[in-house]
Amino acid sequence: MGCKELALPDDLVTAAWLHDIGYAPELVETGFHPLDGARYLRRLGADGQVVSLVAYHSCAQIEAEVRGLGAELASEFAPADSLLTDGLLYCDMTTGPDGGYVRPAERLVEIRGRYGPDHEVTRFVARAASEILATCARIEEMLPSQPR
Ligand SMILES: [Fe+2]
Repeated sequence: MGCKELALPDDLVTAAWLHDIGYAPELVETGFHPLDGARYLRRLGADGQVVSLVAYHSCAQIEAEVRGLGAELASEFAPADSLLTDGLLYCDMTTGPDGGYVRPAERLVEIRGRYGPDHEVTRFVARAASEILATCARIEEMLPSQPR
């Protein structure tokens, strides 16, 4: 089932395409990709909702706290619409590195394994896992059918 069949809002689809743009080496400022990506999109004059979705994607506020950037994120960007934020988290946490569907719990295991036990991302996942899984469960209940 694609974006059109699901009638997904344009801002959500745009943010889903752009949410990890802050990983691009030429955009790195803080090394925290949601913040770096949102700053870049703001400089481009991107839609404010899209910028906020990128800034706060997938519990980025929790990772920002882990990295000591929580106040910086909050002072620069307003949170996006909560349902769109949840929808973007669901898209991110059900898509593996190869683009295929993964269950959210498996995605978290994959992320922890990729970064290793001492990395900031792994510490973030430990703090955010329950919120990530609960959000995914809420979105799955709203979908017309389960993805797998
Ligand atoms: Fe990301």
